[in-house]
Formats: sequence, structure tokens, C-alpha cells
Amino acid sequence: MATLPETQQVAVKRPELHFTAKKNWINDPNGLFFDGKQYHLYFQHNPNGVGHGFMSWGHAVSTDLVNWTELPIAILHGDVADIFSGSIVVDHENTSGFGNGSVPPVIAIYTAAAKDETNQSQAIAYSLDGGATFTKYEQNPILDRGSKDFRDPKVIRYESAEGSFWVMVAVEAIERRVLIYRSENLKDWTELSSFGPQAATAGIWECPDLFQLPVAGTDELKWVLIVSLNPGGIAGGSGSQYFVGEFDGTSFNPDQEQDAWDSLEFETLKQGRWLDYGRDFYAGVSFHGLPVNQQTIIAWMSNWDYARELPHGGWRGSMSTARQVDLVKDSDGKLEIRQCILGLPTAEETEQSTVNGEGRIELGSPALIELTTAGAVAEPVVVSLHRSDDTLISEISVESSLIQHRREAGLVSHELYSSNQRLPLPTDIDELLVQIVLDHGSIEILAADGRRSLTDQLTGEAVPAYAVVRTADGTTANVGVQTLRIQSTEINA
Ligand code: FRU
Repeated sequence: MATLPETQQVAVKRPELHFTAKKNWINDPNGLFFDGKQYHLYFQHNPNGVGHGFMSWGHAVSTDLVNWTELPIAILHGDVADIFSGSIVVDHENTSGFGNGSVPPVIAIYTAAAKDETNQSQAIAYSLDGGATFTKYEQNPILDRGSKDFRDPKVIRYESAEGSFWVMVAVEAIERRVLIYRSENLKDWTELSSFGPQAATAGIWECPDLFQLPVAGTDELKWVLIVSLNPGGIAGGSGSQYFVGEFDGTSFNPDQEQDAWDSLEFETLKQGRWLDYGRDFYAGVSFHGLPVNQQTIIAWMSNWDYARELPHGGWRGSMSTARQVDLVKDSDGKLEIRQCILGLPTAEETEQSTVNGEGRIELGSPALIELTTAGAVAEPVVVSLHRSDDTLISEISVESSLIQHRREAGLVSHELYSSNQRLPLPTDIDELLVQIVLDHGSIEILAADGRRSLTDQLTGEAVPAYAVVRTADGTTANVGVQTLRIQSTEINA
């Protein structure tokens, strides 16, 4: 099937609930941090075009995680190296010595990726103006293994009774390993341990994250390791798996050890834990600077299978909504991540209806549909989404699984784009709540109280004009629909 030439620019409507750059290419979120007042989002960015290249860190800030103000590029690529993904910490104790005595230095830890592809090593840059501008450390790199695929450092502050130190997780991508390092000053690093290969390994490992999460309803805290991989994700192409376990300051030990599956089969992959079951939720990482009971992640809402070839409007790529996460126990007593979309504006009115048979629902934009059915429905409940000219854009079918059928209705003609994604639903629920967030160009579905999520681009599609809900005889669905009214809160940049 033909793909659109990279240069083809079309009228792609900008999302309202999701971050997009004013122009040019973006991919992974980088250096997410909260400074006490504002959320900072840095992102992989090409300042020169709509393709992946000249990778630099773009920068945006927000007070509500929905309205973002884009600021000038924070870290620009150099002559010999691109600035690949990484993280940010605020060095309150000035362990790095970059501080000037008045403000704590904000330190970016990123991968310096040689443009000739001969080396990837870790480097740092410091900011003395709260994260607006950065100075690259003159003694970079700070960590070089002589590897071509060593990248995506995520640094956290590890606190223990014996004291605090910095911990970095980064991948040896081809080896499917997460390496764990320790430092006292962010400049000198000692290798502690490594994790993997385990579970899904059909693709290379990228963008790891290690953080603590509370177990809902208890005082317990557990450690979570996120590993994105590409390809080999549960929905095909890029995907994000996670492991729940313990981190003792040296090594990460998952509660369940798993074999390494070099498999692309859904039946094998579904044994793992996945952050999302859609096509477009990749490289998700958490914010530095938020308390453990407010851990929040944002992901890149795309997939390397087709990201470079999707139509664009002079800008290409967007971030997911921000998701607050915690842990809950599944029916086997295993812990799984639960997500809650943050910052959704409260709607002025909610329209409620009960569908028994077929019901048509008009949608505003952006829209939130909340569908509630009795736990295990015998026959599927189907929600189809249409344009005003009746074209079918996508269809969601809820039974023991939730299936999202992405139609090739509009601008995208790419052999890997049109696909059906399946999300196995938990079996231990009496009432199933499905939340569907519709913005221009995307659908985000949270099911079973946020225990399952499915994120797909609907590239080039404005929010659908109406939905049709169908239930089989004897099955009833309650449907609530809200139009989300965005309050503009531009930050004076
Ligand atoms: C993940 C990734 C990272 C890398 C970055 C380059 O999407 O491939 O591993 O640092 O993108 O833009």
C-alpha cells in the first residue's frame, strides 16, 4: 500500500487535550519534572523538519497537564552528537557542584548519540534558571561503555536509612538489558547490577524507568520497572511492558521471574504486564518531583511502525494525556498498574442515557464517553464512532475482551496502520466502566477502573460527530457523554 511522502502536508487538526509542538517532529517525552509550581515536559524534537533527525530537547510547561506552553529549545544537538532521550533531576543538595548558591541546579542526563552511529554514551547538562537553558558539562561523557546502543538514562534519588544517592537505569538496547548504576555526584557512576532479558524481548529495549508506587488501600510501597520495546509490543510495533517487584538500592527483583519470550504472538505476550494495549503509547516515563502517591506518566502517542510516514500539518507527533498511576491487586493477588487520566476539564453538563438495543449519541469536542455495563456481558456491547457524513472511523467492542478496530477511513493509507487491538478484561469485576477520551486524532480507552488502557491515534480525524451504541437483547449499557471544555491557561513565557 502506498504511504504518503514525508513532505506531504495536509490539514491535520491539532488536538486540544494533548501536547503537540508548534512545528516539526517530536517523539519521546524527556526529563519530565515538577518544580513545585509547573510541570516541565521536554521532548525529542527535530528543530529542522518533520522527520526524525537533529535530535534535540524541546521544552514546554504547564500548570494543569493539559494546556502546555512551548518554550525555546532547551538542549540543542551538536556537531557530532544528537541529544537522545533522558531525564531530569533537581539537585537540591548541590551534589554535582554546579549550583551557584542561590538556586538548586536542574540537571539533565541524556544520551549523546554520535551522528555517525558509532557510539551512545551518557552526558549531563545543567541549568541555573529552573530548566529554561542548559550548559553542557565540558567533561562529557560521564558514562561511556564503548557501546553503540547504550541509552535513555532515567535518574532517581534513592533514599534509604543509610543515606541517599543517585540511581540511573539505562538500556543496552540490543541485549535487552536494563543496567543499574549509582552515583554520589551525578558525574561519576558505578555499575551495580543489570536486569533482563525477561518477558517480551522480540524487540530492542528502550526508555526504562524505575520508581515506587503505593498499593491502593494499604501502606505498602512497591517498585516498578517500565521497559519499552520496539517492535514486539502487545499490539504490534512499539509497546511498553512493566515489572513489579523490589529494588534494594542495588538490584531490581521482580515478584514474578519470567522467561524471555522472543515472540510476537498475542497469546504469549498477554502473559506479561503492559502499560497499554493500543498501538500508540510508547516511551512513557514518570515525573521527577512528585510525591509517590501522585506518580504520573506521559508517553509518546505514536508507534515506530509508521510514525515517520503519518500525514502531518507541519508538526508531527503528540504526547498522551498524563496518567496518574498506582497499584492494585488482580484476582490472582498479583499487582498491576491502575491509571487515571489527569487534568480532564469538568464538563458543564453530562448527558446520561440507558441503551437497550441501539442508541445514537451526538458528541461535542473533545469528548468523554463513559459506558457502564454489568460485569461479564454475554454478547458484545459495540460503540461505533462516525463522522457527520456517516463514515465509520473506529469501532469498540466490549465482551470478555475489549477490541478497538481502527478503520482506514481518512488520511492514512499504511499497511501497518489499520489494525484491531485487543485488550483482555479482568474477570473479577461486577460492573465494567469504560472511559473513552476522544480528541482530534486520538482515542484513549480506560477500562475496568483504569486497570486496562488502550491508546490509538486516529490520525487526521477530528473528534467524531456521533457514536452509536448497540447492545444485544437483554443487555443494557448506561452511557454518559460530556463535552470537555478546555480553559486556556497560557503561561507567560
Ligand atoms: C525511543 C528512542 C530512544 C532514543 C530516542 C531517539 O523512541 O528510540 O531509545 O533515545 O527514541 O529519538
